[in-house]
Amino acid sequence: MRLVTLAIVAAVSPDFASSQSPEEHAKHHPAGGAAPSMAPAGGAGMAGGEMGEMMKEMGKAPRKAFYPSLMDLPALSPRQRDTVEQQAHARMTAGARIMVEALGPMSETASRKDYPALQSATERMRQGLAQFESGLAAHRALAEGASPPEVALRWFKTEMNLAQPAAGASARTWFGVPVFHAISMGLIAAFALVMTMIYFSRLRRARALVTELISERPATIAPGPASTPPPPPAPRTPPSPSTQGSWSGELRVARIFQETADVKTFRLAPITGEDLPFSFEPGQFLTIAAAIDGKTVKRSYSIASSPCCRGWCEITVKHAPSGAVSAYLHEQTAVGDRVSVAGPYGRFTFRGETPSVVMIAGGVGITPMMSSIRYLTDQSWGGDIYLVYACASLDKVIFRDELDYLSSRHPNLHSVVVLSDEPASSWTGERGRVSAELLARVVPDLPSRRTHVCGPPPMMDAVKAALVTLGVPAEAVRTELFLAPERPAAPAPAESPSAPAAGAAVCTFTRSGKKAPLTPDQTVLEAAEEIGVAIDYSCRQGFCGVCRTLLVSGRVTMAVEDGLSAQDKAAGYILACQAKSASDIAVEA
Ligand code: FES
Repeated sequence: MRLVTLAIVAAVSPDFASSQSPEEHAKHHPAGGAAPSMAPAGGAGMAGGEMGEMMKEMGKAPRKAFYPSLMDLPALSPRQRDTVEQQAHARMTAGARIMVEALGPMSETASRKDYPALQSATERMRQGLAQFESGLAAHRALAEGASPPEVALRWFKTEMNLAQPAAGASARTWFGVPVFHAISMGLIAAFALVMTMIYFSRLRRARALVTELISERPATIAPGPASTPPPPPAPRTPPSPSTQGSWSGELRVARIFQETADVKTFRLAPITGEDLPFSFEPGQFLTIAAAIDGKTVKRSYSIASSPCCRGWCEITVKHAPSGAVSAYLHEQTAVGDRVSVAGPYGRFTFRGETPSVVMIAGGVGITPMMSSIRYLTDQSWGGDIYLVYACASLDKVIFRDELDYLSSRHPNLHSVVVLSDEPASSWTGERGRVSAELLARVVPDLPSRRTHVCGPPPMMDAVKAALVTLGVPAEAVRTELFLAPERPAAPAPAESPSAPAAGAAVCTFTRSGKKAPLTPDQTVLEAAEEIGVAIDYSCRQGFCGVCRTLLVSGRVTMAVEDGLSAQDKAAGYILACQAKSASDIAVEA
């Protein structure tokens, strides 16, 4: 094989034979003179001893050039192959001639027992045989189709005494890849796939958890790597009773904003601390108490800000012509003043309990709905919000710029403004009143949606009639009356309990031990105020529940009971501002 290798290298690498200078070669072959050529031309083949010496020296400079030279040759060109074949044939011929020439002297020296000469002849014979074998091996390698790199590899393994692979070992492959290598790569790929699945599974679960935390709903996390999409909005726990969790005290007026010509927003902040001393639902209201002409007057105003703001809340107040408290706020209250506040109250709330909601507002009745809209957009709530907002003219539209801004950023907020008396012809929006025709046109599939209505009484009556016409079920409608006339200050307490009028029923207040006459058109609250029995109140409309009082005995009628929960009614509570009776009763006050 060494001879074959050298023969091929000599044929295809002209630098190989000349890779050593004559001087360097003389160092290796001090008795040989000039370096013998690897080419057989001229019959100057390399002697066997020289070849041996050469192979011994292949760990030096020539060996470095030999291996990479062959490895760099991907295949023999036809021309190189012819050259190698010719050189191999020439080596065989030269080797045979050397052996023939050495045979005569060998027999002659043997007969005369000239042993030194016999040894020289034997050496020549060996050289000839070596040349002949190298030529023959080159022929054979070429005939078997061995490539130069394969020849070089066999040579290398031979030199290094490495075991040759067993026959058939190379056949244990899958698609040309060794079996062990294929199995290893398969295991690595499977491990990477499993780790990737675990990563995405954890990512989904974390996203679901964050979504649930943001919406303040119980987390629903699918086990394992399931690709369950985030759950749809789920109904929330119903708000607590209107008077539960309420607070009373003073807040500081931190800012005042002029919304329209007769509407201002008052930002109320805690006197001390950073957060409000209460939490509220979007749509609830506060009761403001003001000392006017030596008397305490209360009035309720919806909170317009989002409960996401913990450091302050805002009430938006219209300056009513005869409104004592609204005039007090508009004309006498300044930034830095303290106001007496109680609340929050009310059940007219919405924070995403149903998949969509319709809000129909009139004038300043937008305020409780604005709190919900701000909250829902703050939370990126995904349900549809249909707002139908009725005003007289464009300059009376409260929060107009903010509604436009929120609608542009939240495609699920569909806002429609309806103007009844807008003089400008440039207004291209809806005109007229909120009618069944308009609602059916701007709110798709209205009967299937929860509807909130808030505004002045005429508007409320018209909208409720329109909803009945459209087939909206009564249980899907929530209402809150607005712009209720402010009550005059309570009359001064009587010096002593009045005697019941003839023919009138008697209302007994069990806690104070007082009694008052109760005429059929008089409420329990009015009867209590006449004799100085304190019953707290706010809206005086039956909505807030602040005047909630326990009925000890007797029977009453109430025009509005919205301020009572089912539990309140079952426990025997009444609304003092609504309760009337034609017979004697007793209440806990
Ligand atoms: S004062 Fe509001 S319900 Fe009676």
